[in-house]
Amino acid sequence: MEFASVVRGRRSIRAYTTDPVPEELIREILDEARWAPSSRNTQAWSVWVVTGDALERFKAAFKAALAREEADASDLQGTATDDWPAACSARAVELMKTRAATLEAAGEASGPAASLERMADCFGAPVLLVFGFEACLAPAYAAYDTASLVQNVCLAACDKGLGTCQSTTLVRYPGLLRQILPGSEEQRMVVAVTLGWPDLEAPFNTFERSRAPLDEFVTWVS
Ligand SMILES: Cc1cc2nc3c(=O)[nH]c(=O)nc-3n(C[C@H](O)[C@H](O)[C@H](O)COP(=O)(O)O)c2cc1C
Repeated sequence: MEFASVVRGRRSIRAYTTDPVPEELIREILDEARWAPSSRNTQAWSVWVVTGDALERFKAAFKAALAREEADASDLQGTATDDWPAACSARAVELMKTRAATLEAAGEASGPAASLERMADCFGAPVLLVFGFEACLAPAYAAYDTASLVQNVCLAACDKGLGTCQSTTLVRYPGLLRQILPGSEEQRMVVAVTLGWPDLEAPFNTFERSRAPLDEFVTWVS
């Protein structure tokens, strides 16, 4: 695919077919993605490819934590919505509204509980990629480097007709992940990415998304 078509064609995929993803294809994606830049070429990231029984174990443990109403214990704490600039909050609200309107028009549940339930099921994806970095590293740049790898993964997957959705929700109980993922005891969890073949008809994958025009965030200085 043309580079611009991949960048513009990628979208977060939140409904998948049940078709498996061949391991070879996942390897190809990761092999391309590893050429991401990183601070001083440290490449201090780790990736776990979670499928089959391990994925089912993770989903069951995640759902049980949700049912117990366990507090978010993310390794990288987010920013409370109240602290966001007004334009950012407005975009997040817009996303929720557009998504809900499309789901409601298709007769599907659109509330936060339904969203969380779908997410706890990894949107039906057959693969979950979990991204972390060594806990001894300063988190800001280690997370920044890892995000470069993640973006490459998402673009490489799109180029092969596969769908992805990044999720910080799925890493909100990092203790669960550290129990399931070998060698993750000393890792901080950044994000999990669902991977699979997109169900292109699903309303969850068809709602409109927008981006701010350049003039809203670019300042030319000469
Ligand atoms: C760090 C990060 C965390 C995200 N977490 C979630 C999530 O928990 N649930 C979800 O449905 N989407 C999540 N997303 C996807 C964003 O909502 C999505 O990227 C954004 O709305 C733009 O839409 P697009 O990816 O389709 O272009 C996340 C994206 C990023 C980059």
